[in-house]
Amino acid sequence: MRMAFRFVLPLLALLGVMAWGAAPFVGDLIERWFRADVEMRAQLVFHSIQDSVTGLVESKADRKITQLFKRITQDERVLALGVCTPDGQLTHQSAAWPKQYGCPTVPATGKPFAVEHLESGSILSATFPLAGAEGADLGRLVILHDLRFIERRSSSAEIYLAICLAILGLGVAIVTVLVARLTLRGWVRAVRQGMSAPDQNGKVLPPEVGPLIREMRKMLRDLDVPRSLTEAIRIEWSPDSLRGLLRDELPGAEVLVVSNREPYIHNREGDQIVLQRPASGLVTALEPIMRACGGTWIAHGSGSADPVTVDRNDHLAVPPEAPAYTLRRLWLSDAEQDGYYYGFANEGMWPLCHIVFVRPTFRASDWAQYVAVNRKFADAVIAEAKTPNPVVLVQDYHFALLPRMVRERLPEATIITFWHIPWPNPEVFSICPWREEILAGLLGSSILGFHTQFHCLNFLDSVDRFLECQIDREHSTVRASTTTTLVRPYPISIEWPPRALAGQPPIEECRDRVRRAHGLSPSVRLAVGVERFDYTKGIADRFRAMESLLDSHPGWIGRVTLLQVAAPTRSRLSAYKDTQTEAETVAREINARFGTEDWVPILLVSRHHEPDEVFTLFRAADLCLVSSLHDGMNLVAKEFVAARDDEDGVLVLSTFAGASRELQEALIVNPYDIGAMGKAIHQALSMPADQRRDRMRLMREMVGENNIYFWAARMLLDAARMRKRRHIERRIAVVSQGKATGAKTGERRW
Ligand code: F6P
Repeated sequence: MRMAFRFVLPLLALLGVMAWGAAPFVGDLIERWFRADVEMRAQLVFHSIQDSVTGLVESKADRKITQLFKRITQDERVLALGVCTPDGQLTHQSAAWPKQYGCPTVPATGKPFAVEHLESGSILSATFPLAGAEGADLGRLVILHDLRFIERRSSSAEIYLAICLAILGLGVAIVTVLVARLTLRGWVRAVRQGMSAPDQNGKVLPPEVGPLIREMRKMLRDLDVPRSLTEAIRIEWSPDSLRGLLRDELPGAEVLVVSNREPYIHNREGDQIVLQRPASGLVTALEPIMRACGGTWIAHGSGSADPVTVDRNDHLAVPPEAPAYTLRRLWLSDAEQDGYYYGFANEGMWPLCHIVFVRPTFRASDWAQYVAVNRKFADAVIAEAKTPNPVVLVQDYHFALLPRMVRERLPEATIITFWHIPWPNPEVFSICPWREEILAGLLGSSILGFHTQFHCLNFLDSVDRFLECQIDREHSTVRASTTTTLVRPYPISIEWPPRALAGQPPIEECRDRVRRAHGLSPSVRLAVGVERFDYTKGIADRFRAMESLLDSHPGWIGRVTLLQVAAPTRSRLSAYKDTQTEAETVAREINARFGTEDWVPILLVSRHHEPDEVFTLFRAADLCLVSSLHDGMNLVAKEFVAARDDEDGVLVLSTFAGASRELQEALIVNPYDIGAMGKAIHQALSMPADQRRDRMRLMREMVGENNIYFWAARMLLDAARMRKRRHIERRIAVVSQGKATGAKTGERRW
């Protein structure tokens, strides 16, 4: 209503002023039109009676003149007629000739017309000379016209004009207000959606409000740090907003990360020291967070040149090009590595948690090393912590016992543990001989995160089955001894925009480079796979899917190649050696079956690739195959999407990778169904460009919004809320303790 008034009143006022200003002009115009009309009529009358009047005046036929004048003045506009002598005497006049009105003088303009304003109203006098035979001056014929009708019409026209303008103005105002309200309502809705759940539905921002939403998000980010999860969802998360969150919600918090894999490895190659960034989803995810927040990252120093690149406290400032945090390397003996890393973690927990039908192996000696190494890392946390309440981010299945160990020594610490792999159901988990210890160790955490709700529920069911503790399923918490642990899904992600994208050549150049580097013809379509040689990744199954494609659609023979890069990993373990051998054998077999002199269907490159190389590959590809048999998340899928700033390329993604919950616009496949996977590859290769773009755009929005800063922010916000709640509980406890003491001693405390 207010908007209507705001709009209508000024418009009406403006139109009123316009009507008021225009009225005299309109009146004047109308008067002039009608006068010209009357003058023409007078002239017509004169011409039609000129001869008759001249004759009658010459013959002094007074009666006939009177009759003629009477006849002509029957026309309502002609008021009167009269004849004047050359010296201005009125000799004849019709009945309505105004009293006291004599002969009009001839106007100085020389024109025959003049307007006279009499008491009875305005008249127009038209004076025409009467010439007799041989040009004798007989006087003048005067025709008087009543002009009052012109005044009446001109004032009516002014009133009509005002009414028309008012109606027009009102109409325009009503239509404008309605259109404005509808448009505004649409915008408000779009802005609200954009601000509250950005791209939750995968929708692109509407162009009219997109810039506004982006601006508002930026302002929110710049001005303030979100105070709750609801607010957290509304902003675009970046290193700055994450830093702001730490500063405001966890003031003074010291950040410590614990992981087995270090973010930077120094290796000796001949007499050179080479820096390597490992092929690890965990590192990909955590490194940008540490760059943003600073702190200390404690990890196993696994590189051959690691010991010579640290200071005497085993510290190293990283990233080497722009140090932002400290890497604290911890050294493990071969026996420790064998028992803790290769043994318990990778022969026990890894196959236990991934359902790929590789039998877990549990050895007591491995367990002993696992316990010892967890203790060693816990000691390092205590040694590195400068405050009693650091935020400790514990990573992965290598450290199931560490949270409890740290909790016992730093009861005030906020311990956030993230389990990067799936959690099995209680049936499967019960295989582990140390299942109770594992659960109790993890429940030393303040927060325990998994990628999916499904894995959280599996964990809660396992706790329910094997531990005596209080489970609150509604709030998803477990209370064991004195600690309450929040168990929640936090799907991990990557930095956005990814660092490796900066400096990438344009797509066309990436395509040329990769094709040239691998001897592929420019016309060959390219599928890529990027993995560690892990049996969970389904590499050989993917090769079989290529074979199935070529069997069922022979048209692709010679026209598509799968370039699979795979970094050897955990190669001391036979299951891993077998995975690599199997993949190489299957690739050879398929190449022998279909390959020609200048083309092979599968190109297998078994070496580590740095992130820049991987991104160039992604950008060069027509499709990316991520066919994990089981995977917590799989960040390769998200990296492929992030690399495609041209909004092209198709992702074929396993339904058993956590990423398939978020990247629903990928072609989702069951990696055990080789035929279906072959069909999906065919579908990807045949997909029209606009469909590829629509799918990729939605996936990019999803990854961009739910980036790694958002992942960390959600956990830190939950941690901050828990800290605040603990403070309140403490205060209540102090007050009630005080009351109890007061009651005993008879004191009163307030
Ligand atoms: O998926 C679990 C995980 O720890 C990832 O975070 C990481 O990508 C991978 O395993 C690396 O394994 P590793 O450090 O043993 O090479």
